[in-house]
Amino acid sequence: MEKNWIFAMLLMLGLMGCFCCYVEGLGVNWGTQATHKLPPETVVKMLKDNGIQKVKLFDADDTTMTALAGSGIEVMVAIPNNQLAEMNDFKRAQYWVRKNVTRYNFDGGVKIKYVAVGNEPFLKAYNNSFLNITFPALQNIQNAINEAGLGDTVKATVPLNADVYMSPPDNQVPSAGIFRPDINGLMTQMVQFLNKNGAPFTVNIYPFLSLYGNDDFPFNFAFFDGVDKPITDNGIQYTNVFDANFDTLVSALKSIGFGDTPILVGEVGWPTEGDKNANSGNAIRFYNGLLSRLAANRGTPLRPGFIEVYLFGLIDEDAKSIAPGNFERHWGIFRYDGQPKFPMDLSGQLQNKLLVGAQGVKYLDPMWCMFNPDAKDLSKLADNINFACTFGDCTALGYGSSCNNLDANGNASYAFNMYYQTQNQDRQACNFEGLAKPTTDNISTPTCNFIIQIVPSSASSLMPSFAALLFIAFSVILLA
Ligand SMILES: *[C@@H]1O[C@H](CO)[C@@H](O)[C@H](O)[C@H]1NC(C)=O
Ligand SMILES: *[C@@H]1O[C@H](CO)[C@@H](O)[C@H](O)[C@H]1NC(C)=O
Ligand SMILES: *[C@@H]1O[C@H](CO)[C@@H](O)[C@H](O)[C@H]1NC(C)=O
Ligand SMILES: *[C@@H]1O[C@H](CO)[C@@H](O)[C@H](O)[C@H]1NC(C)=O
Ligand SMILES: *[C@@H]1O[C@H](CO)[C@@H](O)[C@H](O)[C@H]1NC(C)=O
Repeated sequence: MEKNWIFAMLLMLGLMGCFCCYVEGLGVNWGTQATHKLPPETVVKMLKDNGIQKVKLFDADDTTMTALAGSGIEVMVAIPNNQLAEMNDFKRAQYWVRKNVTRYNFDGGVKIKYVAVGNEPFLKAYNNSFLNITFPALQNIQNAINEAGLGDTVKATVPLNADVYMSPPDNQVPSAGIFRPDINGLMTQMVQFLNKNGAPFTVNIYPFLSLYGNDDFPFNFAFFDGVDKPITDNGIQYTNVFDANFDTLVSALKSIGFGDTPILVGEVGWPTEGDKNANSGNAIRFYNGLLSRLAANRGTPLRPGFIEVYLFGLIDEDAKSIAPGNFERHWGIFRYDGQPKFPMDLSGQLQNKLLVGAQGVKYLDPMWCMFNPDAKDLSKLADNINFACTFGDCTALGYGSSCNNLDANGNASYAFNMYYQTQNQDRQACNFEGLAKPTTDNISTPTCNFIIQIVPSSASSLMPSFAALLFIAFSVILLA
């Protein structure tokens, strides 16, 4: 009798566990700028194992789309910035929609919900290159979708960086939010068009970057657990930069007469390497705050309620440009090999545990490349490390990162090993003019992991190899 009762309780708890599983509408960004990509089917399995039901892509790669087919996962496909100009031609846009949207629209196909037209095209760093080609591309894509009869379910949107809006220098409060004066007219037209089609405004919000860009930024304001001096705005107390930033956008939209435009957060997250503030401890703190708020549907002071959010990102990407900073390759909630980095709770209940990692990952042999302690001539060491770090990812060596405490030989070994792994442990890739040698000893230190790469799933890993050949050819020319 007693036993049955306990059993019933456990069953009930189990059921309750299932009902409160995940933050409603939580998505992730699946970027693929990696030298070694996990097979798309492995990634899709990982998404399902962790109950992630929405994914945002940066293109419409057909192996990815094929892996997503029949999964029931909602997808945002994308048109990269370098294809925006083409999409200014309506016929070209129709063709894109036919091949990358309509084609997957069948029973057991891909549940495409959004098309991202460009990626942060108005970023100041792009020097206005995409300023006059983005809106025509958006119009053509949505119109082509509408013409194909999918306009009710598929919405085109433009993921924008938060630098398209601001509060004026003399009134730094969210309620004073406006669009950047140089693009206010353009933003007004675009928002009008989004509204007409029932499409959301998509914005990427990065509290980490507020901190990274500014040593005076109040550290705790980047997180969600309170600050000593909140910003007071019309009687509202702002205690974190996410809310303040989001509400600046709400005000900017209001200022052009579209205060009710739905807002989707296309990217938000915290990196774990490559800066003094990029580490698992801060990432856990950030996600704990963000996810529990999303679960509670608290919204922001000016927009209480549900917010649709896509975390950035799913997996580390070791081939991304580090122009923004060394952290850029380390935004994943999973490592390069699909293994979880830190405990978290996607349901926002703060029951943190490691997420389910990628299953059946195939690694290269347990072989490393290290500095050869018998090397006599060290005059070319710096050049060789430089070469290794041009094609391998050495961002973990920098200040504030996990491998920053290595000695000079350790530094060289780390660089050589990253290159060697990138080159799939090719024997030629562990010589460096006699300065390096392969080893079967795991030369990791307690804080710094000397990785073994995974077996690449596509031919794209040949690209750095080819780049390396070019580099060598170029060096030879220089030396001659
Ligand atoms: C579909 O998307 C892929 C991947 O982004 C792209 O390379 C291709 O050009 C697109 N197809 C068409 C017909 O535009
Ligand atoms: C933008 O302009 C700056 C300064 O003129 C230049 O250094 C940078 O390379 C340009 N960036 C792009 C993407 O054109
Ligand atoms: C965009 O602007 C540039 C200069 O600002 C101009 O040369 C170009 O023709 C414009 N393109 C379109 C499609 O309007
Ligand atoms: C190792 O490399 C890092 C990053 O390049 C550098 O900051 C550090 O000073 C180097 N350490 C030694 C002992 O050379
Ligand atoms: C090498 O050692 C590190 C640190 O002990 C460990 O985390 C890592 O899993 C090891 N790598 C392999 C391939 O065994």
